[in-house]
Amino acid sequence: MTILATSCVLCFVFLTQPLILFHEWCIHNSIVSRNLREIVEEIFTKGSTTSRPVNPTNIEYIHKPLHVCDLHNGPEYLLVLVKSDASNIARRLSIRHTWGNISHPHIKVIYLLGYVSVVQNMIDLESFTFKDILQGHFIDIYDNNIYKTAMAYQYAVNNCINTQFLFFVDDDFFINILKINQYLETLTTTLKSKLFKGHIIKNAKPKRNKSSKWYLTKEEYPCDYFPNYPAGGAILMSMTIAKLLKTAFPYVKFIRIDDVYLGIVAMKLNINLQHDERFDFSYTPPMHLKKCLHRMAMKTIDRFWQSGISF
Ligand SMILES: *[C@@H]1O[C@H](CO)[C@@H](O)[C@H](O)[C@H]1NC(C)=O
Ligand SMILES: *[C@@H]1O[C@H](CO)[C@@H](O)[C@H](O)[C@H]1NC(C)=O
Repeated sequence: MTILATSCVLCFVFLTQPLILFHEWCIHNSIVSRNLREIVEEIFTKGSTTSRPVNPTNIEYIHKPLHVCDLHNGPEYLLVLVKSDASNIARRLSIRHTWGNISHPHIKVIYLLGYVSVVQNMIDLESFTFKDILQGHFIDIYDNNIYKTAMAYQYAVNNCINTQFLFFVDDDFFINILKINQYLETLTTTLKSKLFKGHIIKNAKPKRNKSSKWYLTKEEYPCDYFPNYPAGGAILMSMTIAKLLKTAFPYVKFIRIDDVYLGIVAMKLNINLQHDERFDFSYTPPMHLKKCLHRMAMKTIDRFWQSGISF
């Protein structure tokens, strides 16, 4: 009887644990050969590495924001990076007019765009007018999202040395930035530097069906599971974490799904992902707009704003 019970327990342990460990093992062994932490440490201490990058190490910009990181430097500085399709001009106007219109001296909002030829004249004008556009030299399509993400980290880490926190968000989210800033102020110094928060997706599998937007071949991603990763819509992190990730990016082959990619790099660097349900796009606060984040149709944003709801 005891033997049976013991073997059942063992059975249970073996059946549940190895599944997880095996896919972590797969990711560790198939994505980059060398220890990524060593590479990053080598770059941090010596300024370079003997390892060869597998991705472009420099993404060129068409437009850069002006006076975003060079003015208003401060210890609590928060940079909000809004991922937006170049064609979504109306959405950006709406954000600038509502939740992105922040007069706090230590908070800035910029917009991350790729290139779309038919709207480029308008983007030039938009950039000239608002000076808050970071546009990369790549076509703005879903498959290039990874370049948009890499560009954002590159720009922030290279240019915004006094920035302490980065908040990545899609242009269809409604954010209360001041609440996020208040939340950041409650964190201890240690928690601040380790901050990497979002809606964490666990045990997701790659889509192997060619008709899926998220289709990945075995060559692109050989493992059967994804590591835990932060859903791309809203991610809050410290500059310390952003620097680690940005330094590692050139040595971990890009995959098209940028949030999964972050999960892979984070796992290889042993960075802890912190789950927070408020970062989920379907999160509905118990009280309207009282919590950090809320997503709603863009049309309603202006209405909410104009109806005078204050935070
Ligand atoms: C932002 O808010 C200020 C007042 O706080 C207002 O004067 C300005 O017009 C607003 N900007 C936009 C783009 O709505
Ligand atoms: C792939 O997706 C398409 C459309 O959603 C579906 O019709 C097809 O059956 C799927 N194929 C497989 C192998 O699941």
